[in-house]
Amino acid sequence: MSNVIDLKGISWRRDEKTILRDVNWQVAKGQHWAVLGLNGSGKTTILNMINGYIWPTTGTVSVLGHEFGTIDLRELRRSIGWVSSSLQEKMHYNDLTDNVVISGKYASIGLYEKPTAQDYEQAHQLMRDLGCGHLIGGYYRTCSQGEKQKILIARALMASPRLLILDEACNGLDFISREALLSSISEIASRPDAPTLLYVTHHTEEISHVFTHTLLVRRGTIFSVGETKEVVTSEALSEFFETPVHISWQKERAWLSVP
Ligand SMILES: Nc1ncnc2c1ncn2[C@@H]1O[C@H](COP(=O)(O)OP(=O)(O)O)[C@@H](O)[C@H]1O
Ligand SMILES: [Mg+2]
Repeated sequence: MSNVIDLKGISWRRDEKTILRDVNWQVAKGQHWAVLGLNGSGKTTILNMINGYIWPTTGTVSVLGHEFGTIDLRELRRSIGWVSSSLQEKMHYNDLTDNVVISGKYASIGLYEKPTAQDYEQAHQLMRDLGCGHLIGGYYRTCSQGEKQKILIARALMASPRLLILDEACNGLDFISREALLSSISEIASRPDAPTLLYVTHHTEEISHVFTHTLLVRRGTIFSVGETKEVVTSEALSEFFETPVHISWQKERAWLSVP
């Protein structure tokens, strides 16, 4: 069976600068990945490539079994859900939470078609599943940041994506909201019909046991890939961050401290 993601020999140059080089990454069905790297390491650039927003200078990209150049990217993007903290501000000021969720079906910002009763039912179910049933019928603008992220995850799930990308989804959340969001994400990942999750972060403690594999990105290239328990260790991360760090696994989460 083909991989969910297959990046082979990727490089990307912009303005005489090599932003990505030698990126090789395969994600198989049934795996969920954490993508870890410092600010500016190239994480979002890799995701932009997976979504077909940018084209590699060298190498080939295959997503969900389709090689780029042979498929309609708009069609492919319907199978990919994307949530980032920067998506929050793109929603319209007057939107109701239900409509923000339903807009995921059309991958649009705002809603231009009249939702059906079935759309509302699905949206409400997704919101309840994510622990934000109390927000049904409310204004998106009055939601807290954590609630907005949950609404945006429900929005991404509205299209039943096969790949769900969470790019620094917990940015700016207080620890209570962050824990609530992480537990919703774990719950999604544990479902038998779950989409493949890519969870991008620069905080190791957000890497929970549901992320079977981890990709370490440094200065535009892959530092290490593999099973999370093997990749996320004190020794490997000290080398990765170029500074001594200590990782202790507690409750299946990788807590980092600086000795
Ligand atoms: N469109 C672009 N043109 C030029 N440089 C870019 C572009 N997009 C990203 N970069 C650069 O690529 C590097 C990696 O950025 P990014 O992938 O956003 O990092 P991360 O998501 O890991 O924080 C940064 O140095 C950034 O300035
Ligand atoms: Mg980024």
